[in-house]
Amino acid sequence: MRSALLLVLGLAIGIVGTVFAMNALQERQPYSHHLMMTMAHHAGALSAAVKAQKCDAAQSQQHIARLLETQTDLGEAFPGVDQPFKDEAAKLREKTQAAIQAAPADCAALAAAIKPIGETCQSCHQQYR
Ligand code: HEC
Repeated sequence: MRSALLLVLGLAIGIVGTVFAMNALQERQPYSHHLMMTMAHHAGALSAAVKAQKCDAAQSQQHIARLLETQTDLGEAFPGVDQPFKDEAAKLREKTQAAIQAAPADCAALAAAIKPIGETCQSCHQQYR
C-alpha cells in the first residue's frame, strides 16, 4: 500500500516536472520569435507565388494585409528598443501599406510590391538580428 502511494506520488511529481520543463522551453521562444515567423510565413507565401508565377490578386492582398496586421505587434514583441529600430519598423509599415495600395494584380506587380518589403526586413536584420 505504502509503495503504491509512493509510486503515485512519484508519477505526480514527474508530471509537474514535465509541465515546468515545457514552460521553460516556451520562454526560450518569446513572442518576438512567433511574430517574426508569422511575418516570414506571409512574406514567404508572396515570394513563392511570384516564383511559381501563380499570383492570385485576392490571395496576395490577403497575405499583405496579414503582414501589415502582424507588424502592429512589433512594439509589444520588442519592448524598450531604440529609435533606429522604431524607424526600421515604421519603414516596414510604410512599404507594406504601399503594397496594399498597389493591390498587385499580377506577378510583375507583386514582385515590384514586395521587393521594398524584403529590403526592409533585411536592413533591420543586418543591424539587430
Ligand atoms: C524593425 C526590425 C525588424 C524588421 C523590420 C524585421 N525583423 Fe525579423 N527580426 C528582427 C530581430 C531583432 C530578430 C531576432 C530576434 C528574435 O527572433 O527574437 C528577427 C528575427 C527574424 C526571424 C527569425 C525568427 C526566430 O526567432 O527564429 C525571421 C524568420 C524574421 N525575422 C523574418 C522577418 C521578415 C520576413 C521581415 C519582413 C517582413 C522581418 N523579419 C522584418 C528584427 C526585424
